Amino acid sequence: MSEPKGTKGKTSRRGFLAAVAAAGTASAAPALAGNPKNLPPNVPDWSRTLGDGVAVRAYGSPSKFEKNVIRRDVEWLTATRESSVSFTPLHALDGIITPSGLCFERHHAGIAEVDPDDYRLMLHGLVDKPLIFTLEDLKRLPRVNRIYFLECAANSGMEWRGSQLNGCQYTHGMVHCVEYTGVPLKLLLEQAGVKANAKWILAEGADAAGMDRSIPLSKALDDCLVAYRMNGEMLRPEQGYPVRLVVPGWEGNVWVKWLRRIKVGDQPWFTREETSKYTDLLENGKARRFTFVMDAKSVITSPSPQAPCRQKGFTVISGLAWSGRGKIKRVDVSLDGGRNWRTARIDSIVLDKACVRFYYEFDWNGEALLLQSRAIDETGYVQPSKDDLRKIRGVNSIYHNNGIQTWSLKPDGEVENVEVG
Ligand code: MTE
Ligand code: CO
Repeated sequence: MSEPKGTKGKTSRRGFLAAVAAAGTASAAPALAGNPKNLPPNVPDWSRTLGDGVAVRAYGSPSKFEKNVIRRDVEWLTATRESSVSFTPLHALDGIITPSGLCFERHHAGIAEVDPDDYRLMLHGLVDKPLIFTLEDLKRLPRVNRIYFLECAANSGMEWRGSQLNGCQYTHGMVHCVEYTGVPLKLLLEQAGVKANAKWILAEGADAAGMDRSIPLSKALDDCLVAYRMNGEMLRPEQGYPVRLVVPGWEGNVWVKWLRRIKVGDQPWFTREETSKYTDLLENGKARRFTFVMDAKSVITSPSPQAPCRQKGFTVISGLAWSGRGKIKRVDVSLDGGRNWRTARIDSIVLDKACVRFYYEFDWNGEALLLQSRAIDETGYVQPSKDDLRKIRGVNSIYHNNGIQTWSLKPDGEVENVEVG
């Protein structure tokens, strides 16, 4: 490649094409892994015999060779399985849509097993006409399809006091981005007729926690959905089957699963989840509350601790960015811990309050690098460094940590979660 190497240069189109060509030739590859008997010019066994037949009456699953691409948990993080969390394997995914079976799960009282025939959604409070909807009622109403990210407010929460967890699955894996099909909540509220003094709604789940959150009526009438499908199929049990609330751009906690009740009121209810939890304790002892919006954030998913760099030379940095305030405008990547920034290449559809996929290709000469990404959204907001965030928020918080993540890429290709001063 004629382009400058390592941290110094941005890969030009010409250099990019040359690098792609080099990466495609067998001579550029390291010692070939695998069983020589299966490699060219030999004919491998899988080409000599008939394969398995069509799988009828079965739900498909990934290749057995991908068995490590699974949700994982952090054992010490939670006391019980019922009130716990698993993490999306971001390091092993690409594009913007999270496969349904890999979406992280977060429950406060386990997965409610709701019989769709017995499912009811009650809408009451400050309305002219209280209503009860069956699942069929909801399906008969005009529906929309929308792609949104969902991020738990506690995502990256363990990193407030310094880098802890070695893998983007654990530091950033409480996010997923899928397509929802559902009814705009506005439609249901209009059917019931909201009274003039109404200002808030309470959304309540049918799980044993009866998890409930207050949401401003303005948001409910804006873009919230009462969703029953995810990635085309019915919601998975762990994602709230048969119905969940979709609250675009807002912290995952308000996306109530197994949604059974919406009450309209004139003030918030101050439930457990918006008083003792999901508030941000500041240095001066005061707490921020109702901090609903998830600010712009990004992470390099590969290379990352669980996806080390196996080879020098042409290297693709891949990552995700999202903002609860709208569309992502730009993503920057740094190879030197934030001293120099280059514009990443976004290669995905860019949607409101959805993930975008970014790439940055360069020629890695094997020197140690400090990889970072930062997201800039359409409001002009720039993802802050962890230190800048701590200056405003202190280190008592659990929630809403959208600071810039640093990965240390070492000459041997291993990657580690670090912080730069
Ligand atoms: N809704 C109910 N009824 N019960 C819950 O425990 N967990 C909340 C939210 N909705 C929860 C819930 C939290 S904290 C998050 S982050 C999201 O659901 C997680 O959604 P997911 O499991 O689909 O990823
Ligand atoms: Co959460």
